[in-house]
Amino acid sequence: MPNQFAGADFITIRDKTKDQLEGMMDRAEEMEKYRHNGTDAARGLLMGTLFFEPSTRTRLSFQAAMKRLGGDTIGFPSSEGTSVQKGETLADTLRTVSQYVNIIVMRHPSEGSAKLATELLDIPVINGGDGSANHPTQTLLDLYTIRKELGEVDGHTIALAGDLRYSRTTRSLSRALSNYDVELILNSPSQLRMKKDLLYELKNRGLDPVESDDLEHSLTEADLVYATRIQKERFPNLAEYEKVAHAYEIDRDLLERTGNPLLLHPLPRVTELNTNVDDLENSLFFSQAGNGIPVRMALISSLLDLTVR
Ligand code: CP
Repeated sequence: MPNQFAGADFITIRDKTKDQLEGMMDRAEEMEKYRHNGTDAARGLLMGTLFFEPSTRTRLSFQAAMKRLGGDTIGFPSSEGTSVQKGETLADTLRTVSQYVNIIVMRHPSEGSAKLATELLDIPVINGGDGSANHPTQTLLDLYTIRKELGEVDGHTIALAGDLRYSRTTRSLSRALSNYDVELILNSPSQLRMKKDLLYELKNRGLDPVESDDLEHSLTEADLVYATRIQKERFPNLAEYEKVAHAYEIDRDLLERTGNPLLLHPLPRVTELNTNVDDLENSLFFSQAGNGIPVRMALISSLLDLTVR
């Protein structure tokens, strides 16, 4: 089958079909055999990792994935030390780096920044997170983790819990889940409910989520809970953040009382996920982060149209 992603950008999950998502996960399964020992499919190719916002998992797993494919990476983990500090614009930074590399992954606090990059550049651009808007590659690894653990995404009840207002991971994941036959529960403190535009979009796409602020009930109903951090950096001011900073916490007692649903979290966590859950069999968040490697190998190799063997 022709590779539909050859030469494409990867900016949002909104326009991806179920077949495309499942195809990418099939490819990620194939990448598992190269995950630790690598291949030389991308030999001579360079990825630029341009992170204008902090990251541990996204940046390092993209770098690891490119290196496992046999390529290499250059980039920066923040704008500190770059010519942005001398006043260089995002557009000029992108145009310059695109002269050096074959593919770019970028994270930036402004919504729409990755889309802007696609309009300026003629190499593939991957969105590693733009403000509160999108985190499409996190969604690929979230779906991959769900499929790996439950056999398939269809047919399950999934609860998204925490900051559903500012979290880009739940924004992207809920869009992807609207391609599937799932029951979706949206559990959040009342101030952090999913925005109306997204709720409306999900309903138009055939998903009819149930909103709740009763965490215990939501966890009891769910086969899988996807918890998120309250996104301090997105609040208009610290006082608003502090009103909800400790509004919810998942701990071992709560999980045991609610039947031990599978537990995912994109990480990093702060206070919403007690470390006393870490050794529970259903706590999947570190293996979920590990799944970023085969998934990102699948994505990079698709966009660069590499034959991996
Ligand atoms: N899940 C995620 O995006 O983590 P980082 O912010 O560490 O990249």
